[in-house]
Amino acid sequence: MIYHIPWIYLPVRTALAIWHQLTKSEIPELAKASVLMRDRSRVEETIQAMQRAGPDALQVISDFDMTLSRFAHNGKRCPTTHNILDNDLLINDACKKMIRQLLNTYYPIEIDATRTVEEKLPHMVEWWTSVHELLIQQKIRRDLLAQAVKQSSAMLREGYKVFFDRLQEQQVPLLIFSAGLGDILEEVIRQNHVFHPNVHVISNYMDFDQSGVLRAFKGQLIHTFNKREGALLHAAHFRELQERPNVLLLGDSLGDLTMADGVAHTQHALTIGFLNDQVEERKESFVNSYDIVLVKDETMDVPNAILNYITTAPAK
Ligand code: TMP
Ligand code: MG
Repeated sequence: MIYHIPWIYLPVRTALAIWHQLTKSEIPELAKASVLMRDRSRVEETIQAMQRAGPDALQVISDFDMTLSRFAHNGKRCPTTHNILDNDLLINDACKKMIRQLLNTYYPIEIDATRTVEEKLPHMVEWWTSVHELLIQQKIRRDLLAQAVKQSSAMLREGYKVFFDRLQEQQVPLLIFSAGLGDILEEVIRQNHVFHPNVHVISNYMDFDQSGVLRAFKGQLIHTFNKREGALLHAAHFRELQERPNVLLLGDSLGDLTMADGVAHTQHALTIGFLNDQVEERKESFVNSYDIVLVKDETMDVPNAILNYITTAPAK
């Protein structure tokens, strides 16, 4: 039988309480009701260790759709990079209808908490392949993409500028790893004036013919649940990233957790998951998988506060 001797644990408990107080006052955003953590102490220790190592040891790896971009604004869903193409400039009504039908069929599967990743995989390949084939049939013109982005209601999360600008200022590389459309993603960040030189993108890129008409997609298809393969294939090419052992990872799907698998020698990793949809059904799996879970939070407040803390030299 185990006897509890509270006074033995008292110094440890007090130390822990002081530790909590410390980060609470320095990163008050972590105390918000929308922030969930499986192991608060581990999160705090990791943040402190990352701060001690400084910005030179840090890299940020982030998903794009519904992570850097907003899920909803004023109660209305914001488009993903694929959905930005839902525009008369680029595709006809019949194609729009088919793409929406595919979204209605496959998106519920993507976020279904009762199915395993293995079960979801073939459906994701089917979804992406069908949409890409439809887009190729539409002979999309490269010179109209920027206009389509301008006309869309795509938005980056509130506080995005602080996030991108801080990383640029501190020369911390940001790898955006997206199963969306790279050409559109780049246009969104360009139009928001945050496509800084420290930003690298791995995504599905369009292949245009000589007259600027879409004829295929380049390289291996990236969907929500094969980012690990993509990471191993592409991330190794970014030497700068291989030399930075501390990773701050942002995502909105459990598949996004594998985005850092291409980093050879990780020392400290902190993962932040945006839980946008199907909150009750997915809360448990998100809390078990991400270090920090942000529930229906359309802002970059928490990542920004953590980044600010990590990239500011500790007080002597
Ligand atoms: P992400 O990796 O940048 O989040 O991009 C993938 C998201 O794109 C994923 O959540 C599903 C979404 N998607 C659409 O909204 N429409 C589509 O037609 C396809 C294929 C994916
Ligand atoms: Mg996403």
